[in-house]
Amino acid sequence: MEIIIAPSILAGDFKILGEQIEKTEKGGAKYLHFDVMDGHFVPSISYGMPVLKSIKGYTNQVLDVHLMIDEPIRYIKDFANSGADIITVHLEACQDINETIREIRSCGVKIGVSIKPETCVSKLVDVLEKVDMVLIMTVEPGFGGQLLIRETLPKISEIRKMITTKGLDTDVQVDGGITLDNIHEVITAGANVIVSGSAIFKGDIMKNVRKFIEVSASIESQYREAN
Ligand code: DX5
Ligand code: ZN
Repeated sequence: MEIIIAPSILAGDFKILGEQIEKTEKGGAKYLHFDVMDGHFVPSISYGMPVLKSIKGYTNQVLDVHLMIDEPIRYIKDFANSGADIITVHLEACQDINETIREIRSCGVKIGVSIKPETCVSKLVDVLEKVDMVLIMTVEPGFGGQLLIRETLPKISEIRKMITTKGLDTDVQVDGGITLDNIHEVITAGANVIVSGSAIFKGDIMKNVRKFIEVSASIESQYREAN
């Protein structure tokens, strides 16, 4: 399974955002992770549709929109129309997850469902067959630059096992505190879409993306040989 690196622009420098996005793309990142926060589901507020729209016109990367907002169903069409290729909602934020999934599907974009560190993987059982990606948060959503919560690691293997048992090919994304020091653990646990903010945007962005891709490809091929 190919490992995809998704730089999170939340860690970027917004006065030169275009330049920085270009560097992630030149470095080879296929996805660009776009964190939306509403000051309600999570304490902080980030950015929304107008910013997404201008990025859409600027990059060919897959725009991976992570909605950390209450009742995201209200805004699915807006984000789809602004250029989202994948929309991920939080299970905890939806009154009716099935209706929310239907709304995303009707917009023709890929569907992701996320859970916070304290939410059990078993809560995803009923939706697994209807989504393209599950996002296992490895930090409490709301802020970049936090340390990965190690207790979330078994959830990655748990969900991957569930997916394999059901014969599905759902992507498993991880988000929060991922660095070159722990990427090995999340990939071997079963994650294949890796979000990283601070570890990519601090220093030489293009070099960091290349390193993430190189390291993850080698972990994946070693893992494949061993299994
Ligand atoms: C946290 C966001 C993450 C964050 C990741 O709520 O969902 O996408 O930007 O940033 P780092 O890699 O710095 O934890
Ligand atoms: Zn995110």
